[in-house]
Amino acid sequence: MFNFSYSNKTQIHFGEQQIAQISKEIPKSAKVLVTYGGGSIKSNGIYQQVQSALSEHTWFEFSGIEPNPSLETLSKALTIVEQEQIDYILAVGGGSVADGSKFIAAAAHFDGEPWDILSKTAPVKSAIPLGVILTLPATGSESNSFAVVSKKETNEKLAFGSEHVHPRFAILDPSVMSSLPERQLTNGIVDAFVHVMEQYLTYPVNAKIQDRFSEGILMTLLEDGVTLTKDRNDKGARANIMWSATQALNGLIGSGVPQDWSTHGIGHQITALYGLDHAQTLAIVLPRMMSIMRAEKQAKLLQYGERVLAIEPSQFNGDIDKTIDAIIEKTENFFQQVNMKTRFSEYQLTSDVIDPIIESLTNLKMTKMGENQSVTIDKVREILTNSL
Ligand code: NZQ
Ligand code: ZN
Repeated sequence: MFNFSYSNKTQIHFGEQQIAQISKEIPKSAKVLVTYGGGSIKSNGIYQQVQSALSEHTWFEFSGIEPNPSLETLSKALTIVEQEQIDYILAVGGGSVADGSKFIAAAAHFDGEPWDILSKTAPVKSAIPLGVILTLPATGSESNSFAVVSKKETNEKLAFGSEHVHPRFAILDPSVMSSLPERQLTNGIVDAFVHVMEQYLTYPVNAKIQDRFSEGILMTLLEDGVTLTKDRNDKGARANIMWSATQALNGLIGSGVPQDWSTHGIGHQITALYGLDHAQTLAIVLPRMMSIMRAEKQAKLLQYGERVLAIEPSQFNGDIDKTIDAIIEKTENFFQQVNMKTRFSEYQLTSDVIDPIIESLTNLKMTKMGENQSVTIDKVREILTNSL
């Protein structure tokens, strides 16, 4: 196992009726900006719960943070932050609202052009404190230090990370999932699954806790992802999926182990160029990433196959390639079982997408990705070609 330093300072309040906790979490003296998206929180009752919990606070609101939040939209919030002297942000939504709010929190204290935080990795030295009421389990943003923001003008989608934007608290009430459109439930299950894979499917470093914890999350997502897809009202499955998504990207399973993140690197370009949802891009790329990088990832692929999917070389007369083919097929089948597409052609996209994606990655100098920097542009081309 590698050396690591780990902490996660997000206070989690998990379970039904926990939204009321925000009244204690946010200081009464604070001037709060409640941020949210396109309005789903108004039709499912979450907004009303926030209103009553904040009845003794001074608060303002900023709505309209879109999926894949844009610099253009978020910049508008900075005016309110300045005018009203906001000193606490409460993000109410999915990963996009959480990420967008992290950007607002950092940009408000940033001296200079805020986009430099992403484009030039300019250091974030402080930020407005923020808390999150999660409405869509998927990204883990509610208890991690990362945010992904897009610049519409240039079709860029970039990430930044800073401990200063790590949420102070997060409310995880699984009952909020009852209003999720099927597409977003699917996205959440797949995104969380791929987050685990990016931190697990590399090479072994004898990190038994991280491996077994990762395998537990994967098994839970496989089981309860399918259960919840069949029965949207299964409360037990909802709770397990919500907690899995948080655990998948809160820093714990990635501590002390090599990480990959090339599926995400490619996926972000696909979203920026063609507008596919974040998780939709991952489900296209991951199966081919597993296949093309099978030699380097062999030990962990076989470990995943045996421990998570119950697929072993002995079932294929010891033929490793056939075993790995079966492991990939079962993973892709899982995506399909939760109603996720796994090919560009299913979105009416053709081989025309390949060159622009390669060009974006090249411009961003993402030409050697993965745990061994061996996901080269040639490998990406092969992955994309096989994913059509
Ligand atoms: O805007 P509203 O009206 O709220 O509707 C949203 C949005 O249209 C809707 N929704 C959310 N909760 C709902 C609901 N509808 C009904 N009932 C509810 N309870 O769902 C739609 C999608 O929301 P969004 O926040 O975009 O989805 P998600 O949570 O999947 O976030 C995706 C974004 O997070 C980034 C992605 O790149 C993408 O921009 N990621 C952030 C990460 C991080 N911060 O660590 C890591 C991830 O890998 C990812 O890159
Ligand atoms: Zn993701």
